[in-house]
Amino acid sequence: MKITVIGAGNVGATCAESIVRMELAEELVLLDIREGFAEGKAMDMNQTSTLHGFHTKVTGVTNDYKSTSNSAVIVITSGLPRKPGMTREELIGTNAGIVKSVVTQSIAESPEAVVVVISNPMDTMTYLAVKQSGLSKNKIIGMGGILDSSRFKYYLSEALDCPPSDLQASVIGGHGDKTMIPLTRLASYQSTPVSTHLSNENLNAVKASTMIGGATLTGLIGTSAWYAPGAAGAALVASIVNDQKRIFPCCVYLDGEYGESDICLGVPVVIGKGGWEKIIDYQLNDSEKEAFAKSADAVRSMNSVLEDF
Ligand code: LAC
Repeated sequence: MKITVIGAGNVGATCAESIVRMELAEELVLLDIREGFAEGKAMDMNQTSTLHGFHTKVTGVTNDYKSTSNSAVIVITSGLPRKPGMTREELIGTNAGIVKSVVTQSIAESPEAVVVVISNPMDTMTYLAVKQSGLSKNKIIGMGGILDSSRFKYYLSEALDCPPSDLQASVIGGHGDKTMIPLTRLASYQSTPVSTHLSNENLNAVKASTMIGGATLTGLIGTSAWYAPGAAGAALVASIVNDQKRIFPCCVYLDGEYGESDICLGVPVVIGKGGWEKIIDYQLNDSEKEAFAKSADAVRSMNSVLEDF
């Protein structure tokens, strides 16, 4: 089996490294537009194989889509990352053109692939991929909610002084500082609601930190984060290729679910070898439904910019 990661920048290379360390495929193709860049990253990764003990072969290529043919999964990370003070939404003009061309070229070589979109603004880029590829909606998955949920669990674990692995918590809605919805009501610490352990004030602080989780890192590092985004992309790929049927909040095309249509937005889905297989209904309460509708409005207005492309 072959997996392709498009874009050998920080997120793409980290995602690729996580995938090869998990040995999810015989071959991983890393593609970038910069001459020799993906080749160099691939060589560097291959030189760790005896140290980490993996058998996946990493092939780096410069814009050579033929080498990606018959991939089971294509992960798209191409495009500009955020700079400090920048929102994900501000990247739309540049990244829409890039993602459109990447989707067309990669699907032409791998018409059966499941496509994972990481490029920002992710909800709009996922919608663009659905419209551009002509693939079944189940084969296009935007990666945002898994990452945001993992940040949510991190901040909850800090507040609760407990291991993140003892927590269950989800972020749905858009992958934007103002559009994401950390579901505090449903978050639990070993089957007990987190609200029984944290005051409202603390819970609201966790929620606020989660929502600006990416921006906080961009401010510290000077560009978008990559360890958690890369690992989240790899967890998604693992559930696809190993048909694990894990439930992750992911950005998918909605057709009436959660009260929305003709939009890609984060909801909990079952992830298996066909892509996303089923949407889980969290039975949102009225205020959560209202937040979801607001998030959809914001993403929809961003999607309208695509008409210029
Ligand atoms: C982040 C970027 C990858 O949230 O969207 O870090």
